[in-house]
Amino acid sequence: MKPASGIVFGRQAQSGRGRMHGVSENRNCPLSIDPQWSRRAFIDAVPACSGRDRPGSRFPRGIPLPTMDRRQAMERLKINLIGPGKVGLTILRRIAMTGACTVQDIAGRSIEKAEAAVAFVGAGAAVRSVADMRQADLWLLTVPDSQVATAAAELAATPTASDTPSVAVHCSGFLPADEMKPLRALGWQLASLHPVLTFAEPAKAVSHFDGVSCGMEGDAGALALVEPLVTEIGGMPFGIRSEAKAIYHAAAVFSSNFNVVLQAIAREAWAKAGVPDDVAAALNATLMSACTDNVMELGPARALTGPASRGDQRVVDEQEAAVRSWHPDAGEIYREMSVLAQRLKRTGGTLE
Ligand SMILES: NC(=O)c1ccc[n+]([C@@H]2O[C@H](COP(=O)([O-])OP(=O)(O)OC[C@H]3O[C@@H](n4cnc5c(N)ncnc54)[C@H](OP(=O)(O)O)[C@@H]3O)[C@@H](O)[C@H]2O)c1
Repeated sequence: MKPASGIVFGRQAQSGRGRMHGVSENRNCPLSIDPQWSRRAFIDAVPACSGRDRPGSRFPRGIPLPTMDRRQAMERLKINLIGPGKVGLTILRRIAMTGACTVQDIAGRSIEKAEAAVAFVGAGAAVRSVADMRQADLWLLTVPDSQVATAAAELAATPTASDTPSVAVHCSGFLPADEMKPLRALGWQLASLHPVLTFAEPAKAVSHFDGVSCGMEGDAGALALVEPLVTEIGGMPFGIRSEAKAIYHAAAVFSSNFNVVLQAIAREAWAKAGVPDDVAAALNATLMSACTDNVMELGPARALTGPASRGDQRVVDEQEAAVRSWHPDAGEIYREMSVLAQRLKRTGGTLE
């Protein structure tokens, strides 16, 4: 077995799923990351940077380029992508823009989508199927969550995957890296990389990617390879616990997706009350932006206003009844949110 294109992984590549690097053991602060981790890990992951040979490495010999620095080493990395959707296009475009690595092959469910991806990214080659993809140092599986295991199994069934163990990364905030386990059985290193951003439109997401926090977990060798790349394309990596991903991702859903649903309900309620659309849009924007500022500045408990937090129970009860008679589902949410709002004001948190 040889590394995909001469880039080798050091001791960390062999360490499997040991202690997650970069993540504090402190239970009170499970997501803190050791700022020194990335540099150390990357130097270990790309021994060619220092010209060192690593006895006992699965891939014992580095490229003999003693003066190669981190950036040059990274530029030699070849990246393949399966799933040319919103997230995949955004990440690949950022990679192409920074010249961080070589974008190689792109495959999707149709050649047309793969070709459109090449045009958007400005790099790479469209291929018809996963079986046609060339060996690479890093494989991004940016398919929907429900397809991660399928895509990993499809990749694992190719001769390239069994001949050349590499690194595979998916971008689900919910699934652990282990979802791609058919590849681990072939000696691959696995990680998940979750950019905490909403990718409604790739062209916009590309320009919003600077400083985006990216939650990562998985095998040490894979993390050591991917973390510096994330930094290079403008992301800010932090460690997450594999076993906590369901709750971790729920936090993103609460802060982003449900916020959008609440905005939709608000728009419908303004309309029901006879407020013109353009005025409703402006009202939503003013309230949301003031809310965001207050939450950032004061924290949720101090930022909270409204009838539930003031203890205006009559308003809460009659408003709930009015909402329920217009929109029963929204009425249910109104009741539950009022209970949590009261608790937040009283105790500083929403947990009983
Ligand atoms: N969207 C977000 O805001 C966001 C944020 C953070 C993380 N994520 C994660 O990023 C991943 C991708 O999400 P996305 O929003 O980019 O999804 P998406 O826009 O739907 O893109 C998925 C891509 O994968 C292709 N695909 C589906 N099944 C496939 C298969 N079996 N083999 C090959 N290609 C396949 C799809 O092709 P078709 O177009 O032909 O269906 C599409 O090109 C998910 O794990 C998601 O949880 C998403």
